[in-house]
Amino acid sequence: MLTHDDNELLCRVGPGTPMGELMRQYWIPCLPSSEFPEPDGPAKRMMLLGENFVMFRDSDGRMGAVAEACPHRGASMYFARNEECGLRCNYHGWKFDREGTLVDLPTEQTGSRAHRHFMDTVGIRAYPCHEVNHMIWVYLGPRDTPPPFPSFEINTIPEDQVQRPAIMMEEANWVQNMEGDLDSVHLNWLHRRLAADAPAPPKGMRGFWSPDLDAPELDVERTEYGAYYSSGRTMGDRTWHRINQFIFPFHTMISVGAIINLRSFVPLDDHHAMLISHSGNPAGPMPETMMDRDHDPFGEVGGYEERTNDPRSYFVTKANKRNDYDRDLDVEKRLMHCGIPFVLNLQDRAMTELMCDAWGNPLYDRTQEHLGSTDAFIIAVRAQLIGAAKRLRDTNEPPPNVDDVSWDRVRAASVLLPDDVDWRAHTKPARSADSGDPPSGDVPLIID
Ligand code: FES
Ligand SMILES: [Fe+2]
Repeated sequence: MLTHDDNELLCRVGPGTPMGELMRQYWIPCLPSSEFPEPDGPAKRMMLLGENFVMFRDSDGRMGAVAEACPHRGASMYFARNEECGLRCNYHGWKFDREGTLVDLPTEQTGSRAHRHFMDTVGIRAYPCHEVNHMIWVYLGPRDTPPPFPSFEINTIPEDQVQRPAIMMEEANWVQNMEGDLDSVHLNWLHRRLAADAPAPPKGMRGFWSPDLDAPELDVERTEYGAYYSSGRTMGDRTWHRINQFIFPFHTMISVGAIINLRSFVPLDDHHAMLISHSGNPAGPMPETMMDRDHDPFGEVGGYEERTNDPRSYFVTKANKRNDYDRDLDVEKRLMHCGIPFVLNLQDRAMTELMCDAWGNPLYDRTQEHLGSTDAFIIAVRAQLIGAAKRLRDTNEPPPNVDDVSWDRVRAASVLLPDDVDWRAHTKPARSADSGDPPSGDVPLIID
């Protein structure tokens, strides 16, 4: 469990909060390129870490992000005209480029003192953008020159080897969403099918199967960039090590076989976060079957709800907490431990979205929990995050992976080893994105 104060520090990300300031040190994955299909298209509202801004693709095709409120009298730049390399406020015509510079001020006489004064002193807050492999990342931090761009493998392999990101809004605090990825034992239960030969349910994947339902043994390593761990399960005379990563401030990598997968739990505010799941194949083009799912990752469960212009309505699946996530009780009786379709993280989300505080807000009160041995990675990651946020607050020192992005060159792994082998030493190449080997997937996630 956590104290109330540590829980608040861990979960809250608005401006001025320690965790929010930690996140602002980093580039943050924000929206997919497909949201902005053409230059000079309409701007879109977005929110990260409690800050509202609008994003647009300018006439040159480059992405910009500026604060939502126009510095003149606060009209929303969402309604601005996107024209000739800038956003022109629709209220009185002030125009800003993607760097935030005021480039036209039609409400003052050209050459007047007021015109000169405003042109010299007024700008709109602009957030640097970086677009790579179907994804736009944004920097919300304090530096004039942003830190180096993250060197995650998904950002450095060729574009045709990267699937478009699958995004799911989670209507709950980001920490409880992310903690589902730090907890291997739930594979044995939440994602399990009821028998080895149970047929596939009508919707979603067939489920995990292991004859051994004993709790896995967790072995955790804290690192400069976050932490990783092995969850060891006995398989015959060997041990299956599922090795997953946590990378500051909100990224995970879980072993899913022969592809790589960066998963980012990106907070919009304290009660909404996107899970951005971004997969790629370092060995060559993505398999055709995986590219097919590009356009509708949640098609099997009805796709997304209609969105409004509120960013918290983006990527909300039709199967959600208001309709029991499409749970099928017949499937739950006959085929699967959980009748909610096993489609990406839908089952996981059902387990975490309803966690709440005493007032019903979806931010779990961790003074109430009882952590056990299978929660060892969750305990380690919380300690790492709280420690990093306090260090930044007290000494102004960010974690080393802000400036040294070589720390990003890690992988998850799935490896079968004899019992007497030191898994840390043996899997060093498998945990590196620079080994030259394909991702290790000795045991697939869905075991037949
Ligand atoms: S409020 Fe934007 S130009 Fe006046
Ligand atoms: Fe899961």
